[in-house]
Amino acid sequence: MRDRIRNSLILPPDFQPIQPSWAEGALVYHIYPRSFQDSNADGVGDLLGVIKRMDYLKELGVNAIWLSPFYPSPMADFGYDVADYCNVDPMFGTLDDFKQLMAEADRRDIRVMIDLVSNHTSDEHIWFKESRKSRDHTTNPFNDWYIWRDSVAPAGSDTQQPPNNWRNALTGGPAWEWDDTRQQYYLHSFDIHQPDLNWSNPTVRAAIKQAMRFWLDLGVDGFRVDAVYWMAKEPLMSDDPGNPSFVEGEDLPYHALRHDNSRGWPAVYAYLSEMADVLHEEQYKDKQRFMVTEAYPEGHNPLVEYLNFYVGMDPKVAAPFNFEGLTMPWDASTWRKFLRAFHHALNQIDPHCVASYAFGNHDQPRIATRIGEAAARSASVLLLTLPGMVFLYYGDEIGMKNVVIPKDMVQDPAAKGDVIRGDLQPQGRDPERTPMQWTAAKNGGFSDAASTWLPLAPDYEQCNVEAQLADPDSLLNLYKKLGTMRSQSDSLKHGQLKVLEVDSPYVLGYSREHTDSDVQAYVVLVNFSGEPVTCSLGAPLGRRLLSSLSPSAGSADGAELQPDLAPSEAVTESGSGSAGEGSVRLESHEAVIYAAV
Ligand code: GLC
Repeated sequence: MRDRIRNSLILPPDFQPIQPSWAEGALVYHIYPRSFQDSNADGVGDLLGVIKRMDYLKELGVNAIWLSPFYPSPMADFGYDVADYCNVDPMFGTLDDFKQLMAEADRRDIRVMIDLVSNHTSDEHIWFKESRKSRDHTTNPFNDWYIWRDSVAPAGSDTQQPPNNWRNALTGGPAWEWDDTRQQYYLHSFDIHQPDLNWSNPTVRAAIKQAMRFWLDLGVDGFRVDAVYWMAKEPLMSDDPGNPSFVEGEDLPYHALRHDNSRGWPAVYAYLSEMADVLHEEQYKDKQRFMVTEAYPEGHNPLVEYLNFYVGMDPKVAAPFNFEGLTMPWDASTWRKFLRAFHHALNQIDPHCVASYAFGNHDQPRIATRIGEAAARSASVLLLTLPGMVFLYYGDEIGMKNVVIPKDMVQDPAAKGDVIRGDLQPQGRDPERTPMQWTAAKNGGFSDAASTWLPLAPDYEQCNVEAQLADPDSLLNLYKKLGTMRSQSDSLKHGQLKVLEVDSPYVLGYSREHTDSDVQAYVVLVNFSGEPVTCSLGAPLGRRLLSSLSPSAGSADGAELQPDLAPSEAVTESGSGSAGEGSVRLESHEAVIYAAV
């Protein structure tokens, strides 16, 4: 209240605070449509299947969904090879199904983000089919839509030689493919069937922006923009240098080179800004559209790479994914250091910067496999109490794990290059893309087909949505509680994150506090170790609201706290359920949320 009075004294009378975007604080559920819900018994998920599960998403507290690609595609990279940007692949349904999905989402106040694969198309896209016909710019308007280069083999030689040493990111093999008709190489930074668009050509940029408008006109709330670093390459196309830290037999072959020239050239920010400008166009302003860009940092300082996107794009409508939850070791001090630096830097750039955390996606090992089941429970508390958008990959809310895929069922083209993946199974990305486990029934309730496109996890009869709904302390019920808490709390949605001093190297502590001091603030403590820890914050804490170990004991609603906590929750020295001067005992891998005082 005091802050409000102070503000009213110093702000000009016509001051209009900027409405925070819906993206700020949103819980976004990432759906891989092939694997979420099948509605027509062909063993592959589809859009009508997503509609069928919309109430489930609402109950989970989801504010938005992101759909991986459902565009017409030959599926060389499971939809990330787009053959038509303005339609739906029959495998997933029809455009009318998509419109119905939009209406059903809208009815439940759920926003819809879709994948925009901007760096490349399918080689079946009409643009590429036209482009490969001839290199004559006077007769072929598509001549320059892709990245074509001559062979650099010495004159008279009867073999071809690609223009440089660039490798494709899927298998680590060459990024160039010879085309007999054009007698030239084309560049494919991913699969052979995914030729790179030439983003330095303004007509290409205009075409992608038209595709954006097509979906914005249908009401989509935003985009997840795919593989953006590859949109801009070093203009002279120089060789990539060798990677001195590459360990043969341990790292993927793609990482034998540093990708200094084949990706991440500064023009990428200009291209993305142009795309973000579309979201500002008059006819789209009504719904505060938003885009999130996919770029994995590769340099020695990930923080700088994330910040470059916030500076390079308008942070009111765009943010890069923050992938530290996927790549950083599960370790309190690493998290402490990163959160402190990242949120401090964001505030400096613009208070409207929206962080965008993902702890799982369709390209990365499942979190429950990566850090273990116990730690995955505390990771749910961490994820859902972080600022900005938080992305939850389908199935992570029930602790789905990587699934070993029988050799003859492997689907992912990346599996060919995936010679190394440590304990996480060298099988490409199929292990994290298996069908959603809804029930203990056949195919886990995912499909009525005789078989599914990837096998179900062997544990689906025990680990499924139905079983976990019936267990008050299941991971799913923990997520539901966290989802409710986040959606009801202005501090968790819009508050500042402040890393706290905790006297244990194993515990990360932070507060989430709104500028309006009338709004309840929270303190979150996460024990990253497999041992119990007693630690102190040197400051008083209020009531313990939630523990990752027994979510049913706390209250999800910060406004109406339960007067008594279950005995297992009375973990403070006083045993009263509030933490006095901040001395707290945390069980192994426990994460807790306290009311701040
Ligand atoms: C992104 C997608 C991945 C795809 C690649 C090429 O990284 O997430 O699944 O293979 O781009 O489109």
